[in-house]
Amino acid sequence: MANKNLNQAKNAKKDEFYTQLVDIENELKHYKVHFKNKTVLCNCDDPRISNFFHYFSYNFEQLGLRKLITTCYKNQNRDLFCQNDSERAIWLEYFGDRNGNRVPDPEEIGIHYFEGDGDFRSKECIELLKQADIVVTNPPFSLFREYVAQLINYEKKFVIVGHQNAITYKEIFPLIKENKIWLGYGFKGGAGHFISRYEDTATAGDHREGMIRVSGVNWFTNLEIPKRNEELILYRKYIMEEYPKYADFDAINVDKTSDIPSDFYGVMGVPITFMDKYNPRQFEILNCCEPCIDINVLRKREGFREYPSRQRIYNGKLCQKTYHRILIRRRQASQSQLYAQTEMSMPMAAEDPKAYNQNQ
Ligand SMILES: C[S@@+](CC[C@H](N)C(=O)[O-])C[C@H]1O[C@@H](n2cnc3c(N)ncnc32)[C@H](O)[C@@H]1O
Repeated sequence: MANKNLNQAKNAKKDEFYTQLVDIENELKHYKVHFKNKTVLCNCDDPRISNFFHYFSYNFEQLGLRKLITTCYKNQNRDLFCQNDSERAIWLEYFGDRNGNRVPDPEEIGIHYFEGDGDFRSKECIELLKQADIVVTNPPFSLFREYVAQLINYEKKFVIVGHQNAITYKEIFPLIKENKIWLGYGFKGGAGHFISRYEDTATAGDHREGMIRVSGVNWFTNLEIPKRNEELILYRKYIMEEYPKYADFDAINVDKTSDIPSDFYGVMGVPITFMDKYNPRQFEILNCCEPCIDINVLRKREGFREYPSRQRIYNGKLCQKTYHRILIRRRQASQSQLYAQTEMSMPMAAEDPKAYNQNQ
């Protein structure tokens, strides 16, 4: 249901939902070492209402920041639910507390007017981006691809909110695979509540007044965090019948990250939620795709549901596509051990970019 909210936001370009201070604090407490002497840019944030501006201005001294820049898109009115109806926007800069009261007072905040509308892609905004060391915000989901591409292009460090489905985007996945982006600590229970006027379709238990619940939301970053070094404890044993092979990729299917077998060194397809547990020293990422499994194999499995829309013929056999899978491989074993154990050929199909692109 909550994904419906996000899809609605994406389709209708409804990007007006706002991050709670508590969620920002919960994530950024893991990154404090990175901020000393740094210029932080929040470039999708009306500084007058953004909790990102609030967090960095109130924690300016504690983090040891050099400068905070916050830019607003179009709107100049002090209204949380931005109508984007004004063509000129403002940007603020803050150099920290000057009068010793540890509060960012209005006279300590420099207000500047953009010539244009404050679009993060505009020349003026790019000039501010160039000054920044670290960009931190929740950008418009509808422009996530472009937003990340710009950060990578200008070689910026960042911590930003996005949806886990972005992992599968053909512009984003190569960055994940090459360890140029990874997931942060995330939202409690894999879902975030955002301040919004959009209709909330969350169930009664999950509903919070004035908010929408978005499941699958996460933080994307390229800043080093301890979480990346934590090893995933594997306790399941590999049993051939429990891990069917794909018909179109030389790999086995693993439905849940916790089911990754401890004694298997071949290629495995795991759900995208695996990225939350990914340690690049433990696993290698090979591809992202929607592989298919022989329907006769699936029909023998308990609780199996047929989805005719996901079925297709592969090599003369009726198969059903899984949802997106990340193809991974354990790093510990040597290549020869790896292939001797699994009797698999080198995963050419798994590494074939053409096959990957066709699945996008
Ligand atoms: C998901 S909201 C998050 C707002 C704020 N960063 C927060 O987390 O509370 C995304 C924001 O990006 C703004 N936005 C949309 N298109 C933009 C653009 N092209 N350039 C800059 N900001 C944009 C929207 O007005 C919206 O306020």
